[in-house]
Amino acid sequence: MRYAYRLLHPRPALVVVAGHEKVNAMALAWHMPVEENKVAIAVDRENYTYELIERFKEFTLNVLSIDDAELIWKVGTTSGREMDKINEFRIELENGVKIKTPHMKNCLGYLECKVFEEVKLEEHSVFFAEIVYAKAKKFFKEVWLENARVAMHVGKRFFTTNSKYIEL
Ligand SMILES: Cc1cc2nc3c(=O)[nH]c(=O)nc-3n(C[C@H](O)[C@H](O)[C@H](O)COP(=O)(O)O)c2cc1C
Repeated sequence: MRYAYRLLHPRPALVVVAGHEKVNAMALAWHMPVEENKVAIAVDRENYTYELIERFKEFTLNVLSIDDAELIWKVGTTSGREMDKINEFRIELENGVKIKTPHMKNCLGYLECKVFEEVKLEEHSVFFAEIVYAKAKKFFKEVWLENARVAMHVGKRFFTTNSKYIEL
């Protein structure tokens, strides 16, 4: 049962950016759309990112390419409580459009999200948020194109990307 959730992987390995003056980034694979304009994300309450989302009630979800798998791993295995990940990992940020939280300059696309509800489970909190702005920067035409090569997390240290598309 311990690895039951891994049956639901691979899934897009996103980076959540949260905070205003002191900004932080964390890897996140537990996310889902819940309406066309709403998402839910599960965040461990021990993570520094949790504190920032609680405080500012907003975050950005950044979609990265498999070429950035190492960066995703780094922001997913270190804490903003102990270091400044933005400086340390040379993450370039861009100002938000509809919210104060920035997003990553080198992402394939991003969503700006405003939290409207939090559900506390044992270790994780599920934040429900409205998508107030979204932009795909490249390799997107109504859907991600095959050459976007979106980063996906398989589990442990394994990452993958979309393989050959089939059209029904
Ligand atoms: C690929 C990957 C996916 C992850 N997905 C999640 C997730 O969905 N929710 C979560 O709370 N932590 C997730 N983590 C763990 C956090 O990213 C990790 O605990 C991070 O160090 C927290 O950073 P912070 O303390 O700066 O917020 C994931 C880690 C990796 C490597």
